[in-house]
Amino acid sequence: MKIIDGKLLANSLNQELRKKILFFKDKYGKTPYLVVILVGNNQASEVYVNNKKKKAIEIGIKSKVIRLSDKITEDNLLKTIDSCNSDNSIDSILVQLPLPNHINSNKVIDRISIEKDVDGFNSKNIGLLAMGRPKVVPCTPLGCYKMLESILNLESKNVLILGRSNIVGKPLSYLLTNKNATVTLAHSKTNNLKSLSLRSDIIIAAIGKANFLKKDWVKKNAVIIDVGINVVVNEKGLRKIVGDVDYKDVYKKVSFISPVPGGVGPMTIHCLLSNTLSLAQKRKTS
Ligand code: GUN
Repeated sequence: MKIIDGKLLANSLNQELRKKILFFKDKYGKTPYLVVILVGNNQASEVYVNNKKKKAIEIGIKSKVIRLSDKITEDNLLKTIDSCNSDNSIDSILVQLPLPNHINSNKVIDRISIEKDVDGFNSKNIGLLAMGRPKVVPCTPLGCYKMLESILNLESKNVLILGRSNIVGKPLSYLLTNKNATVTLAHSKTNNLKSLSLRSDIIIAAIGKANFLKKDWVKKNAVIIDVGINVVVNEKGLRKIVGDVDYKDVYKKVSFISPVPGGVGPMTIHCLLSNTLSLAQKRKTS
């Protein structure tokens, strides 16, 4: 078994990215600028957003977090997005999800200008990805793809994706289909999940259920990518982050596995930052 070390891969990709950002700054006299909008005080979102900002600054990207009350009206949130859209110094905008229930997330996501949609969640960007004409690819799916690409050729592989979210499962299924993998997108209503799982060369778990995937569901020498980030309390009463894969149960049987933490998480952030640079470059050249 080998570990797909997302942290190591992200560090090396970030070194390259840092050079590209320096080159961009030299050429255009401008620092790429990412704005993150955080509504409310969901604890997990706070952690993700702080990590994103910290990494952005480390790599040479300007970054600001706009913190808004969970009581904000949909209209005022849309107005905030409008003002970011029209601020010419801003290259990329991310609205952290989930949003409070009284706000229509689809409306909010679609309000972000397509030129600044760093998550690639805008319905036009998702449509282009589904058609095999991607402009901006969502960060977690792109991170998963880069991890897989670092160890194997995806062509003709049977891939099982567990979870059909708009953030991970669906866009990842389009991306890997475009790369000539044979993709099964499974979800809570899927029948015979175990048999699908046992015939898969690659399993990507993105369902948000701690330690869900066990070794008797996994083919020998399969490749596993674990997208889950779940908080559990261990035997000693301490809070711990675990993935959707029961790592200890599964690792001896597989050829490659990504850990949690230190797997997909750092790759998602790398892709966010590299998407920010791409958007900044496109805005300068189009
Ligand atoms: N919430 C969980 N993952 C993500 C993500 O990749 N982007 C945004 N905007 N919100 C998220």
